Amino acid sequence: MALGDLPTGDEKRARVRAMFDRIAPRYDALNRVMSVGLDQRWRRRALDSVGVGPGDLVMDLACGTGDFCELAEDRGARVVGVDFAIRMLRQSRERGLGFLSVQGDAEWLPLRSASVDVVTCGFALRNFVSLGGVMREIARVVKPGGRIALIDVDRPEWGPLRAAHSLYFDRVVPLIGGIVSDRMAYRYLPQSTAYLPGAAELRTLLSAAGFLDVNREVLLFGAAQILTGVRGPLTPVGTSAEGPAHA
Ligand SMILES: C[S@@+](CC[C@H](N)C(=O)[O-])C[C@H]1O[C@@H](n2cnc3c(N)ncnc32)[C@H](O)[C@@H]1O
Repeated sequence: MALGDLPTGDEKRARVRAMFDRIAPRYDALNRVMSVGLDQRWRRRALDSVGVGPGDLVMDLACGTGDFCELAEDRGARVVGVDFAIRMLRQSRERGLGFLSVQGDAEWLPLRSASVDVVTCGFALRNFVSLGGVMREIARVVKPGGRIALIDVDRPEWGPLRAAHSLYFDRVVPLIGGIVSDRMAYRYLPQSTAYLPGAAELRTLLSAAGFLDVNREVLLFGAAQILTGVRGPLTPVGTSAEGPAHA
């Protein structure tokens, strides 16, 4: 689907939030089935790649029902999860997870500047209204020297693989999601990849926000990706890395 057919701005924000509130009760079960458990493996890999461990304060952005939070806590980190969909946060409580959760928008994080050691984010980049704004806001809350690990889906580049992936992602996933949960939401899921910039632009956004050593790891032949980086030194207020988060 072309980007022109998808919602943008405040309409996107409202629709995405309502959608995740609707699908929250069945989100975890469907996630595991549709990713055949790979989602958890990728979260672990992301935590490994930035060395999350005891002593770290981790903010999991768009934490949803808390998968990343749980895995980071298992490694001895303290965790705060932020998400704007209250029912996704409630679902984490129903799972018995005890991490500190805060309802908030990724573009206006309810955290002090330079207050966390690591930011993680799982499968949410394409849902944000202003990716550049969110990158700058992440850069604001991470300490200099702090690390980020952001996972999202992608599409394989090689033709035959891309076709097989598309058959699964664009046809099977909406079919299963529609039967078990919400048809509109699981049709939106593959369509929303159209919001994701390519690899070069993602790197540029992260560098412009103030991250160094930006790396992009391709997973499962291009079906997903992990972006990592290290927060560079703070720059004076008013420069690109410290500018307003919602421009
Ligand atoms: C696909 S789910 C991923 C949840 C979780 N990170 C995971 O790995 O399973 C995307 C999440 O992003 C959240 N989200 C989307 N846009 C957001 C925003 N602007 N601010 C905060 N949360 C947002 C949604 O509410 C939803 O919980």
